Amino acid sequence: MTTTYAEASPGTATALEERIRQDPARFRVLTGDRPTGALHLGHYFGTLHNRVRLQEAGVEVFVLVADYQVLTDRDVAERLTATTEGLLLDYLAVGIDPARSVIFNHSAVPALNQLLLPFLSLVTVAELGRNPTVKDEIAHSRQASVSGLMYTYPVHQAADILFCKGNLVPVGKDQLPHLEVTRTVARRFNERYGQVFPEPEALLSTAPLLLGTDGTKMSKSRANSLALSADADETARLVKGARTDADRHITYDPEGRPGVSALVLLAALCLGRDPHAVAEEIGGGGAAALKRTVTDAVNTRLAPMRARRAEYARDMGYVRSVLRAGNERANAEADATLAQVREAMGSPV
Ligand code: TRP
Repeated sequence: MTTTYAEASPGTATALEERIRQDPARFRVLTGDRPTGALHLGHYFGTLHNRVRLQEAGVEVFVLVADYQVLTDRDVAERLTATTEGLLLDYLAVGIDPARSVIFNHSAVPALNQLLLPFLSLVTVAELGRNPTVKDEIAHSRQASVSGLMYTYPVHQAADILFCKGNLVPVGKDQLPHLEVTRTVARRFNERYGQVFPEPEALLSTAPLLLGTDGTKMSKSRANSLALSADADETARLVKGARTDADRHITYDPEGRPGVSALVLLAALCLGRDPHAVAEEIGGGGAAALKRTVTDAVNTRLAPMRARRAEYARDMGYVRSVLRAGNERANAEADATLAQVREAMGSPV
């Protein structure tokens, strides 16, 4: 397995963007989230915004609610109904359009999961053990021991992508090793059994890392995130509690002043402006003025999405029908791919 990620170089990314612009219909995006909590502004600027952009550009987008992947780091039963419905509302609120994009969940697509079996035969235990992102997750896991699913989930992720022949996967840096597993699986399958799968390309996110209110990476599992679904008052309260520093003069200096700079960046992203300009404008206004700017910027930017979210939330029957229709489509894709796989592998009937 290669450990150099050629897709990560900026030159390649620009060329890829150009190819997408010229012929969007050649691409199919597969991307997804684990239903473990409310999506937040880090997700919005990191990936959700980009999904909508690709959808608008004419690329077909498959969005996976990765409910089976949640099992990787759980040792108790957890019902995912509420978090799944929350994710659906967030998707619809940000503008993922079920008429053009497909929203589906793992556990409802049996043929997707069946691909895991032949795929597991194509990777070695040593390769699985070397995956840096899995190693990192194991190191940070609160579990007493590592489940087989945790160890193999990048191969399951290959099934997520390849079942619908996804060829474009928007990712953050941490997901690149997983995409490399997918490419390896596709290549080895094709070499062994004949051409069935594309080798998907990574579309590396250019979004800067958003820090949460405690100055560490904004994350669903840390109580430091600004959820898309929060209301204006809750947002104000969370921003008020954010960590800053004693220097009243506001600057944008992510290295030296991570807390203050995280807030400046958040305001700048919401306003579509340069963070240095935003900091300069606040100048000597101190943390209070900074926090007022951030709160206003976030609440203004999210207001239309929150209104749409509330509207959809009044019609959960519709929201569930979106998932049902997405699952139907995903099942049709998965069944067709599995039939091809069985034929390639030499099933007699
Ligand atoms: N691993 C991703 C995450 O934790 C979610 C995910 C599951 C995914 N399957 C995927 C992302 C396939 C991209 C492609 O956020």
